[in-house]
Amino acid sequence: MSNSTIDLLMSHRSIRRFEDRPLPDGVLESLIQCGQQASTSSNLQAYTVIHVADSERKKKLAELCADQVQIHQSAAFLAFCADLHRDWMANQMHGVERFDGDYVEALMIATVDVALMMQNVAIAAESMGLGICMIGAMRNNPKGVGELLGLPPYVVAVSGFCIGYPAQEPEVKPRLPLDAVLHRERYLDDETHCAIMKDYDQKMVEFYASQGMHEGDQRWTTVVGGRTGQFHVREELDEFLTAQGFKLRR
Ligand SMILES: Cc1cc2nc3c(=O)[nH]c(=O)nc-3n(C[C@H](O)[C@H](O)[C@H](O)COP(=O)(O)O)c2cc1C
Repeated sequence: MSNSTIDLLMSHRSIRRFEDRPLPDGVLESLIQCGQQASTSSNLQAYTVIHVADSERKKKLAELCADQVQIHQSAAFLAFCADLHRDWMANQMHGVERFDGDYVEALMIATVDVALMMQNVAIAAESMGLGICMIGAMRNNPKGVGELLGLPPYVVAVSGFCIGYPAQEPEVKPRLPLDAVLHRERYLDDETHCAIMKDYDQKMVEFYASQGMHEGDQRWTTVVGGRTGQFHVREELDEFLTAQGFKLRR
C-alpha cells in the first residue's frame, strides 16, 4: 500500500548531523501547531514544548543531555514536557476537591499526550524536508533540566527534540517483522516470538554491516537485552517525579 503520507512515514530515519542553517520564520510555530492537533486524552492537552534558543542555555542543556553533537548542530532544540500543571491550575480555579496527580494514570495520560504530540511534530517536520532526532537523554539529569527550564509542579521533560536540515542521508533502519508486533486474537506464544526475534537479529547484523558498523555484537536481542538492564541509571527520575507531584504510589 502506498500514498504520499505512507511513503513519508516509511522513510523515517533519525538525523544526527545537521547543516548550519536556521529554520525559516514561522516554521517552528507551524510544526508545534501540527503537534497540538494530535489526539489528546479528554482534551487535557497535557504537554508543553520549551524552545531553548539562547546559545549559552542550549549549550548547558546539551551538556545535561549527554552532550550529543546533534543537539549542538540542530537549528532548533526543544524540550517536550509532560505537563499537568495547566490542568492542575484549572482544577484549583474551580475549587475541585481532589487533584489525582499522584496516580500512575496521571503520568500515563501526560506521557502519552506528549509522545503523540511529538510524533506529529516529527512527521510535519519530515514532510518539509527537515530531519529530527528525539533525545531521551533529556531524562539523564531531570533535576538539572527542571531547574534550567524552570519546570513547575506536575511538569517533567520527557524528551529532547532536534530539528534541522539533514547533513547526512542514513538508510532507513529495519523494524521487527510485522508478526512480532501484530498479534492475532491473543498474545503470541514465546517460542514463535523468540524465533521471529532471532530472524530480526540476523537482519540487524546485516544492516549494521551494510552501514560499515562492525563493532561489537549488533544482534537486536543483545543490544536491547543490555539496555533493559540499564534503566536504573535514570533512578533520579523517580525522585524528580515525586518532587514534581507525580508521587507514584507503591
Ligand atoms: C523517546 C526517544 C528518545 C530517543 N533518544 C535518543 C538519544 O538520546 N540519542 C539518539 O541519538 N537517538 C535517540 N532516539 C532515536 C532512536 O535511537 C531511534 O529512533 C531508533 O534507534 C530507531 O532509529 P530511526 O529513528 O533512525 O528509525 C530516541 C528516540 C526516542 C523515541
